[in-house]
Amino acid sequence: MITNSTTNLKELLAKDEQFLSNALYRVFHIVAERGEGPYLYSTDGIKYLDLTCGIGVTQLGHCHPEVIRAAKDQLDKLVHISCVTHHTLNITLAEKLSRILPGKINNTFFCNSGAEAVDGAIKFSRRINKGRPNIISFRGAFHGRTLCGTSLSSSKELHRKYYDPLLSGINIVDYPNCYTGKEPEKEASRVLESIEKLFKSSLPPDSVSAMIIEPVIGEGGYIPSPLKPVNFLRELRKICDKNGIMLICDEVQSGIGRTGKWFAVEHYDIEPDIITMAKGLGNGLPIGGFSAQKEKMSEMLPGSHGSTFGGNPVSCAAAIKTLEVIERDKILDYVSKTGSELIKHLEGELSTKGGSAFDGKSKANVRGFGFMIGIELFSKDIAEKVIQECFKEKILILSAGVEQNIIRFIPPLNIERDLLFNATDKIIGIINKT
Ligand SMILES: Cc1ncc(COP(=O)(O)O)c(C=O)c1O
Repeated sequence: MITNSTTNLKELLAKDEQFLSNALYRVFHIVAERGEGPYLYSTDGIKYLDLTCGIGVTQLGHCHPEVIRAAKDQLDKLVHISCVTHHTLNITLAEKLSRILPGKINNTFFCNSGAEAVDGAIKFSRRINKGRPNIISFRGAFHGRTLCGTSLSSSKELHRKYYDPLLSGINIVDYPNCYTGKEPEKEASRVLESIEKLFKSSLPPDSVSAMIIEPVIGEGGYIPSPLKPVNFLRELRKICDKNGIMLICDEVQSGIGRTGKWFAVEHYDIEPDIITMAKGLGNGLPIGGFSAQKEKMSEMLPGSHGSTFGGNPVSCAAAIKTLEVIERDKILDYVSKTGSELIKHLEGELSTKGGSAFDGKSKANVRGFGFMIGIELFSKDIAEKVIQECFKEKILILSAGVEQNIIRFIPPLNIERDLLFNATDKIIGIINKT
């Protein structure tokens, strides 16, 4: 191990503990110094293969040279202007997004993070559906750490404990999980019926302004909502249309190419009323947003929502370049094809004798789209052991799920195939002997 005397690991961690809030959880107790593509370098000179992407953010790998160039060039021109004047970068980015957003969605409000995007989307839905105080969210979902995001989330008890009273009007219903081994073909219908029952028994639909759902649940365990035999999101769309409820798809984690499409809702062939995004948009620079059709968005009067830093020129420059590179290098096709191969490979190689959970027969419990893949293990303990063994091999991976027993694959979208499969084989080996 190379130890740099000025950045002694123990000293840094001691200062970290002294000066940084204890609330800030860290998975690995190393200190990151530099990132390049799929690799992360710590202050003690160790090179790690980063399959976490800073939790699904650096879609094009760390410090992608073209994204960094675009941000640096913009730093020399204009860093900040807020709402004092218009600026070209957020206009260009919003126009670019309108071309890749599903259906007729063509208008965007920019903010700095996923939670802010979610908060804005909820406020927007209440403005559209005036006098309807209620919202429906799904069990196991994660929508961020603001009070609104916290109120909508239910992926971990710790995230909510002692923060009451949370936002009122939030009704949490089951998220359809077809990966429990229990009657997967009936799961979508079971949840849809439970929503209809809720409407009839205690929650009049005309009191609900919006439903918010992650098309592929992220922090809650990398669970795609059912597509077959029932397209759950399409049925949800119908319920929303029938009752004048806005459908918000939270694509903060699943958006910007993560699932092999620009947005995960494309797998379900639906158009939500509102899409939220953040994480991958700026390839590491902070930017988020919520988008809808112009006609509806126009009901948010100037000044009815805002942000000092949201959509700042530097983050917008990075985001424009990120989208350009994904498009130019045909990265969506690559992610889609390679992701399917990766899932098949995992299913084929994971052994019933190791730590991975099976579907009761022979198929390992692996699910996802593109490079948003979850592998279910038997327990949190096993997942922790696997993560620690991978760490010893200099591979960074994360867990997810209410039980924290899911290993999640979120590699950079442009990672080389051989590198990805070699690392995957190491991870499979570790899971099989854990
Ligand atoms: C689906 C989803 N929504 C919202 C958020 C919150 O995003 P942020 O941490 O940028 O506020 C996250 C973060 O993980 C997320 O996965």
